[in-house]
Amino acid sequence: MKWRDLILFLILPALIILSSCQRKLAVSPANRFLNAYDVEQNANDPQRLIPLSYQQAQGKRVFNNNCVWCHADATPAGPSNRSNLTPTPPLFTDGETFNLLSDDFMRNTITLGGSAMGKSAIMPPWGQTLTQDEIRAVLAYARAVAQPPYKASARPASQYPEK
Ligand code: HEC
Repeated sequence: MKWRDLILFLILPALIILSSCQRKLAVSPANRFLNAYDVEQNANDPQRLIPLSYQQAQGKRVFNNNCVWCHADATPAGPSNRSNLTPTPPLFTDGETFNLLSDDFMRNTITLGGSAMGKSAIMPPWGQTLTQDEIRAVLAYARAVAQPPYKASARPASQYPEK
């Protein structure tokens, strides 16, 4: 076998096969939806979608099981009770209200109920029903769907232990 044939039939095909193995996947790493567990419509603009992380997606489940009846105008099962309540509970997408509240304050309201925080007693306490992980998840979901979008405070969180 001549050198020329060797290069043509063995080395060249081997090189072509090897180089094609290294081809990268044609996927942009910047796509936020690739790692999303669920997707939510933006409340003000249904054309825009919000990708949800695992924790936020768990929070959406907690919300739809427990909070949707009072904190949304429509539920997966039909109409909600929100318009019958006084004070009217804030919509869960209501960034104007929730963005001003710290994580600690929100978690306390959810855990201890409205009356413990000087708010309406119609807001029930969830500390005996939901785990702290579920309460953290539903809070993460509220932060994800807030309109205008929530920006975490630059101030450091409380240094005191939670309980
Ligand atoms: C029976 C109706 C009802 C249900 C169910 C309910 N809420 Fe509420 N919630 C209210 C009302 C009413 C308020 C307003 C209280 C006020 O402003 O005095 C409120 C207020 C809140 C606030 C505080 C807003 C603020 O301005 O401080 C948070 C946070 C909240 N709810 C979260 C939740 C979460 C999370 C769930 C489900 C786990 C839930 N709520 C279920 C009625 C409800």
